[in-house]
Amino acid sequence: MASGQLSREEALACSGYRHACHAMLYCDTNTQLFGRIPIRHIILMQMRFDGLLGFPGGFVNTQEETLEAGLSRELLEELGVALPLSVEDHVDARFAPVPSSSSSPLITHFYMRKMDEEQIREVERAAASTATDHGQEVLGMVRVPLYSTKSGGGLAFFLSHSFIGNARSQLLDSLLRLNLVAPKDLHKALTQSLK
Ligand code: APR
Ligand code: MG
Ligand code: MG
Repeated sequence: MASGQLSREEALACSGYRHACHAMLYCDTNTQLFGRIPIRHIILMQMRFDGLLGFPGGFVNTQEETLEAGLSRELLEELGVALPLSVEDHVDARFAPVPSSSSSPLITHFYMRKMDEEQIREVERAAASTATDHGQEVLGMVRVPLYSTKSGGGLAFFLSHSFIGNARSQLLDSLLRLNLVAPKDLHKALTQSLK
């Protein structure tokens, strides 16, 4: 486990911290943009009520529920589907940057679940219709463009948006960890996004 990251157990042993759990739902796809640029993978993120991009999920009260039960509750509210994530889907936990005005420090837990393309499409449909948070805490789901167009559009522009907490580094780590983008392409997109 890389420095700054905690296991699920280490994180739960930290007293006085609030916990939040977020999940990256993703799938492979054979679809192409403009009929020629492979999209390769669909990764779901969301436009939050505060205008920032983030992963679905939220605060979990560890006095009353397990991390995974809390995450599933948040996913039901934000996505409109029952997706029971389990301990096996837990990737890492880390100390989150929190504003100094905030009462207690926060640990964010990150989960990943690979799904079928049809299941991902079902999540998108439910998130835009039956999810109770739709139009409130969640303004809409977005897919992460992993390609680069000739004019430099795609992943680089996506990364130049503003993200909540450590969602941007959670995304970047996952792209490398799962080999969803080649390291050299990710490096190129990152360099462009900072221009
Ligand atoms: N994606 C989203 N939030 C993240 C992420 C991430 N990848 N990583 C860290 N966070 C932090 C943010 O600081 C965020 O405020 O976790 C906190 C809780 O996550 P939310 O998804 O915002 O919590 P949720 O329970 O869904 O929302 C309830 O919390 O954000 C406040 O007042 C806001 O009404 C909202 C309430
Ligand atoms: Mg929520
Ligand atoms: Mg949330």
